[in-house]
Amino acid sequence: VNAEVKTIQFQKNTTSPFLMNCWYVAAMSTDVKGEELFHRTILNKPVLIYRKMDGTPIAMLDRCPHRFAPLHLGKRVGDDISCLYHALQFDCEGQCTHNPHGNGLIPKAAKVPTFTLMEKYGFIWIWMGDEAADPGKLPDYGELMSGHPNSVAQTYMHVNANYQLLTDNVMDLSHIDHVHGEIISTRGQLSPLIPKIQENDRMVRAGWEWKQTPAMLILNQFLPEPQTEARHFFDITWTPPSHIQLSVGATQTPEVQLNLENCVGQYDLHTTTPETEDSTHYFFATRRNHIEEDIEYNQMKIKAMHEAFETEDIPILEMVHQQMGTTDFLGLNPVLMSNDIAPVKVRKALLKLIAQEQQS
Ligand code: FES
Ligand SMILES: [Fe+2]
Repeated sequence: VNAEVKTIQFQKNTTSPFLMNCWYVAAMSTDVKGEELFHRTILNKPVLIYRKMDGTPIAMLDRCPHRFAPLHLGKRVGDDISCLYHALQFDCEGQCTHNPHGNGLIPKAAKVPTFTLMEKYGFIWIWMGDEAADPGKLPDYGELMSGHPNSVAQTYMHVNANYQLLTDNVMDLSHIDHVHGEIISTRGQLSPLIPKIQENDRMVRAGWEWKQTPAMLILNQFLPEPQTEARHFFDITWTPPSHIQLSVGATQTPEVQLNLENCVGQYDLHTTTPETEDSTHYFFATRRNHIEEDIEYNQMKIKAMHEAFETEDIPILEMVHQQMGTTDFLGLNPVLMSNDIAPVKVRKALLKLIAQEQQS
């Protein structure tokens, strides 16, 4: 009986806590520059990312198969990487191409696992699962890039909290009146509302509509009559594993449908990549549909949003993570309220997808 229990535990420990056959953002496109060897831990694995001479990004395990030196400490030889420790050389497919030792034969096992990348929307996306990478599994976020180049910006933050807490935080926008300052306040209008939900196995969408006076301050100055009442909407869609597209807007035109075509607003992407179970790479992109060409406003805006995350969202999420002492949120029997409808649906959908993946 004991032997059996041990086997089961061993198997359990080798199972990833993450959804594997899906896309995560590995880096912002601008993070991987020129001939640099960029490295980062993703889903508990050290990953080396660099660009070939033609600019195509490459990813492989950041660990030499000989004595496990980090490959990012090595040297580039054209598109190949030469390990710092004993100079085994590997090509973009992870195949060893040069061995300066002994008879110079290439050991059969001298191969580094590689990962499929896709560069889109200002980010480099990575697929780390065993199944063949499926570009169709990344939603179309083309709207991010559909405006003037000065209307869109991306940013990155490192967070010492489980990635699902960040997903919860965006799916539960009721926190904005409590955690954030004046700038995006709904003046207490959002919390009483129950979001409209649409869902299937791979999507949870939540929507809110409300009126406030004055409008959200990020939008107020672009409305025809600042300081007076405006109708607002949030429309957010989660897709696995951890991508949330968020649109927000306001209008003073009566009766029109609340969407980005009719409103002053912005189209955002919040997406997280687990570094470990206890830490997260948080990526954010935003495109506004007003004063699109103003590059200074664009820079000011992404800086202000970055600062709001860093000084308002992230500290509370990191403290929540610490207080929980586990990543099993539902296992702690939390008190749940109307603002938890969307985040809890997402958690359950993700748990189901992870369980399905591990059974198949
Ligand atoms: S550790 Fe890389 S060649 Fe020895
Ligand atoms: Fe927030």
